[in-house]
Amino acid sequence: MEPQAVKSNLILILDYGSQYTHLITRRIRSLSIFSLCISGTSSLKSITDLNPSVIILSGGPHSVHAPDAPSFPDGFVEYVEKNGIFVLGICYGLQLIVQKLGGEVGVGEKQEYGRMVIEVVKDCGGLFGGKKVGDKQVVWMSHGDEAVKLPVGFEVVARSEQGGIAAVENPGRRFYGLQYHPEVTHSPEGMELLRHFLFDICGVTAGWKMEDVMEEEIKVIKSMVGPDDHVICALSGGVDSTVAATLVHKAIGDRLHCIFVDNGLLRYKEQERVMGTFEKDLHLPVTCVDASVQFLSELKGVTDPEKKRKIIGKEFISVFDAFSHDLEKKLGKKPTYLVQGTLYPDVIESCPPPGSGRTHSHTIKSHHNVGGLPKDMKLKLIEPLKLLFKDEVRELGKILDVPVGFLKRHPFPGPGLAVRIPGDVTQGNALDILRQVDEIFIQAIKDAGIYDEIWQAFAVFLPIKTTGVQGDQRTHSNAVALRAVTSQDGMTADWYYFEHKFLDDVSRKICNSVRGVNRVCLDITSKPPSTIEWE
Ligand code: XMP
Repeated sequence: MEPQAVKSNLILILDYGSQYTHLITRRIRSLSIFSLCISGTSSLKSITDLNPSVIILSGGPHSVHAPDAPSFPDGFVEYVEKNGIFVLGICYGLQLIVQKLGGEVGVGEKQEYGRMVIEVVKDCGGLFGGKKVGDKQVVWMSHGDEAVKLPVGFEVVARSEQGGIAAVENPGRRFYGLQYHPEVTHSPEGMELLRHFLFDICGVTAGWKMEDVMEEEIKVIKSMVGPDDHVICALSGGVDSTVAATLVHKAIGDRLHCIFVDNGLLRYKEQERVMGTFEKDLHLPVTCVDASVQFLSELKGVTDPEKKRKIIGKEFISVFDAFSHDLEKKLGKKPTYLVQGTLYPDVIESCPPPGSGRTHSHTIKSHHNVGGLPKDMKLKLIEPLKLLFKDEVRELGKILDVPVGFLKRHPFPGPGLAVRIPGDVTQGNALDILRQVDEIFIQAIKDAGIYDEIWQAFAVFLPIKTTGVQGDQRTHSNAVALRAVTSQDGMTADWYYFEHKFLDDVSRKICNSVRGVNRVCLDITSKPPSTIEWE
């Protein structure tokens, strides 16, 4: 697909800080239409440069009357009208449209939060085209202010049971507004409305496919990286860096140089397994550096979790630095680019919503940055996944022939098993015990066919000894904990409900086959109040 074709079908979302904004982007992409989200206070130039065919103004926590209420830029209304761009306002977005086009917004008499029933009150063939006057549906609302007087030419097309304005439109000027959230699943007919709005009203055509994204990204990488430039990439063994590296490798071949660091904190046979995938399945040029002695000697005796993370970050940098110097010697020139598997949510999360008081920053979360990079490396970034969500990256990975089992791997934290052994990770044979217990647990989950239902499962080594009786002998051995959670994004999580028989089998297997363990506990806390990892 030519970039222009992508652009002419771009649905641009202006973000005013609603917690649901990114869902709108995802829902639209699930219709095979390209959608991007930028700050609601972006300049007119950033909007016009993207050349959208439809603009959606998101919801947000503000009142349009607040002195610093975020809004679209001056000249926005003239721009969309001149270019025939359709505009849909959702909640705060609707109120912005009403206020800016000459209507009035006031504090609602009855504030509407949660599930509401709305009724179609006028059939203009617009937002509710195909529905009849009197048709009802359940929607999800969350607003205090409401439109009290509409701008000239606007019609109310749906009202809530309480009589509040639920939907307005002015088809002649291509402005539409919803006082509810069609993007959430609590609005069961919301997706149908978005589909109808985009395809039938705005005339957008579907056609955004992951194959096109791949071709486009390869073209971009080829044009960015000069013919003599070299690129490096640190592989973590996770999905994002693997897919990013595979894509770059497809574009520039062996001018990509990957490194995989065994820091001594990896899972059972992890090095062997991921290197097997990198080399045999993906043919990636990867140098595997065994730096376990270096990492573990620095970690000896350290118990503070943050100190452990810092040490691990620092050691990563030193290994990475050495790799880069070796490459420079071998190639006779410094590598110029660095590949990172940054995803779209990381980019959006680092752009705080308007009105939050935080300024725009484009730093990548430290979680995703394996401890940061040496400042003097002066590498330019290649972030080929930065417009994609996690499930889209998995889809791209599939097209790139990354084995499906690999794409479905649970997330694994950068500091590895260090955050699963509270206290000194080098104590006794904690790492070995943990690896064995973790492997039994994960294998049992896979055998039970429930691996894909779980966001993350792992074992934790407890730095305490408890009394047991094994083979008629009194033992004083270690306890371990098992943790498995379900989650959408790792930000909140619930513990996974295993069947008792499964837990019984796993517990027996662990105590019978791992020397040094005589007790198995199950972590039954959600996040919050706990975090997913133990440290
Ligand atoms: P928490 O424990 O904060 O974890 O609830 C949320 C998600 O992030 C992962 N995690 C990390 N990933 N470096 C990483 O690369 C870290 O220091 C780190 N700490 C937590 C965790 O595994 C979970 O998926």
